[in-house]
Amino acid sequence: MFSIRKIAIAFALGTCVLADVFNPDPSIFPDWSKTKRFTPVEQTQMDRMGGYDVSPNKKHVVYTHSQWDLSQNKYKRGLRLVNLEDSSSVDLTAFEFGNSDSNPVWINDDIIAFTAVRGSPSTNIFAISVSSKAVTQVTNYTNGISSISYSTAAKKFAFISDVYQGMDMEQSSTERKRRKGLPYHGVVYDQLRIRFWDTWNTDDKSRLFTMPADIVNGVLTKTGDPVNVLEKFSPQYFGLIPDSYDFSPDGKNIVFSSNIPSREQQWKSVGGIYVVPTDGSVAPVRVNNGMDGDASSPVYSPDNKYIAWLQVFNPDNDNDIRKIILYDISNDTHRKVANSFMDSPTSLQFSADCTSLYAEVALQKDVTVLKINLSNDSMTRLTGDGYLTNWSEISNEQILVVLNSFQFPDTMFLVPADGSKKKTQVTHDNDSNLKDLWFSPTESYWFTGALNQSVQALVTYPYGFDSSKKFPVALIIHGGPHSSWYDAWSYRWNINMFANQGYIPVIINFHGGDAYTQPFSNSILMNWGTYPYEDIMKGFDYFLENAEFADKSTTVALGASYGPCAT
Ligand SMILES: *[C@@H]1O[C@H](CO)[C@@H](O)[C@H](O)[C@H]1NC(C)=O
Ligand SMILES: *[C@@H]1O[C@H](CO)[C@@H](O)[C@H](O)[C@H]1NC(C)=O
Ligand SMILES: *[C@@H]1O[C@H](CO)[C@@H](O)[C@H](O)[C@H]1NC(C)=O
Ligand SMILES: *[C@@H]1O[C@H](CO)[C@@H](O)[C@H](O)[C@H]1NC(C)=O
Ligand SMILES: *[C@@H]1O[C@H](CO)[C@@H](O)[C@H](O)[C@H]1NC(C)=O
Ligand SMILES: *[C@@H]1O[C@H](CO)[C@@H](O)[C@H](O)[C@H]1NC(C)=O
Ligand SMILES: *[C@@H]1O[C@H](CO)[C@@H](O)[C@H](O)[C@H]1NC(C)=O
Repeated sequence: MFSIRKIAIAFALGTCVLADVFNPDPSIFPDWSKTKRFTPVEQTQMDRMGGYDVSPNKKHVVYTHSQWDLSQNKYKRGLRLVNLEDSSSVDLTAFEFGNSDSNPVWINDDIIAFTAVRGSPSTNIFAISVSSKAVTQVTNYTNGISSISYSTAAKKFAFISDVYQGMDMEQSSTERKRRKGLPYHGVVYDQLRIRFWDTWNTDDKSRLFTMPADIVNGVLTKTGDPVNVLEKFSPQYFGLIPDSYDFSPDGKNIVFSSNIPSREQQWKSVGGIYVVPTDGSVAPVRVNNGMDGDASSPVYSPDNKYIAWLQVFNPDNDNDIRKIILYDISNDTHRKVANSFMDSPTSLQFSADCTSLYAEVALQKDVTVLKINLSNDSMTRLTGDGYLTNWSEISNEQILVVLNSFQFPDTMFLVPADGSKKKTQVTHDNDSNLKDLWFSPTESYWFTGALNQSVQALVTYPYGFDSSKKFPVALIIHGGPHSSWYDAWSYRWNINMFANQGYIPVIINFHGGDAYTQPFSNSILMNWGTYPYEDIMKGFDYFLENAEFADKSTTVALGASYGPCAT
């Protein structure tokens, strides 16, 4: 059975014709004489949004932004402040070359900490007052730090820094310099893994530190030395690298996730969820004992009663379904939230009133956030089309989301929590320049692919589209294979870049993808290359047979990583 999404109703020559992906409604196309092409030059000139943080009183958002300068061949960066009430924005720190201002974190409603170099020996913590704009330096370490966060209850920062076993941060930077100066650089490995993707597994490891800091006479001041909270782990856990962490609301503990090192780590993935006191006085304690598989995204509930995280129950398959675990701290018990849900969330946050969990999840062509009612596991989807980068609860009724799509880069919106998906745009960084360029709407069709199952394909229309003409077709194939092509902005594979060069981009979300329930993802285990190939061939034939405007004699296939191997 074919099911084709009906996009609109068009009237032509007095007869009623149902518009669909193969008969697009003419009103979706602009007056081409007044519309410009979106070219690689414009793409490099986008003002790119980075990490952000919402002020404690929920009135402002601060975010990192950057822009490539073609003449100087380097990035400008800075921090920008947005007022959530009227969407007005100002540059908080200068938007300049050489500035590496990033990772902004509110300390109170006036002072924002951030990481930067700004003439210091490495990446350090700085602070800016929103009212006076005065910038102060908080730390001056030679060993770089990253991923900062601050707990008002603990009056402590947490951050990541790479150190050697048994050494503190300063000793480690001296040791790193010493090793660099040696005439030889050989490394002896007596255990896998020696490399993860493109990063060598070296002797210095990312460790989680806390560091006391407080507002003293109006200035954010370091009030103690950093403590490596992983120091008390037994030596066998030295290779354990924290990948995500969260302070407990009372400031006493930190929960973090990490892959557990072992001889089998190269082919078996087991993640630990660990709790450690912020003063590092005792070794971290694992709270997901007996759960064999990857574990990620641990978060404390604001009432300090629960920890939630995502858990895979299969060490042999990192891409198996991630279940939401709700851990009751008082009696060391767990429950699976929304256990019948067959898609895999990628990250979690609690609502401030602790009655709900927000879960980011890929659903077909979109990535969205679901609000899950913890008393009966019912779910409300908060965003519609597009790819959700991150979100923050502003109130019980309103959520701030960072969204992008084939049509626009990361942009902040407010959406209601009621599921109506009505967006109110908050940031406007590229609006004026984007409005005269061609960004095709995202269309899709479904066809019967491998295993006689429905498979979704995405289509965009070329610049200058005219249904009476024929256009070349670019079949674009995603990597993975356990991933999908989302309706998302990309600086590397921007679909509208192909469309603006006059091609019809066609993308087939073949079997194995992560956004069409777990059985669809697992279906290609032992069948890599077979079902994906069948889907791609059937889906492309289906497009060519049905799209009158496709020039069947001029087609090209493109892809990266697993992509070219799938054809
Ligand atoms: C930071 O440390 C460097 C030496 O590594 C020193 O030259 C500089 O004066 C220090 N800056 C501050 C603000 O303490
Ligand atoms: C654990 O404690 C909670 C209350 O905090 C209770 O609802 C739950 O039933 C307890 N679970 C077990 C297995 O005792
Ligand atoms: C969550 O579900 C419970 C039980 O059905 C209900 O009483 C409550 O009002 C729901 N909460 C929200 C925010 O809808
Ligand atoms: C959960 O509670 C909400 C709010 O009371 C209700 O609308 C919904 O139907 C309930 N869902 C389930 C699965 O019971
Ligand atoms: C998403 O937002 C939350 C809350 O503001 C923050 O803790 C988290 O670090 C953000 N995640 C990313 C990937 O930026
Ligand atoms: C994006 O916005 C920045 C600053 O607002 C502007 O300089 C740039 O030209 C814009 N680029 C595009 C393609 O809109
Ligand atoms: C494929 O699915 C269709 C409709 O669900 C069904 O009629 C047909 O028998 C199926 N074919 C095979 C080979 O399973």
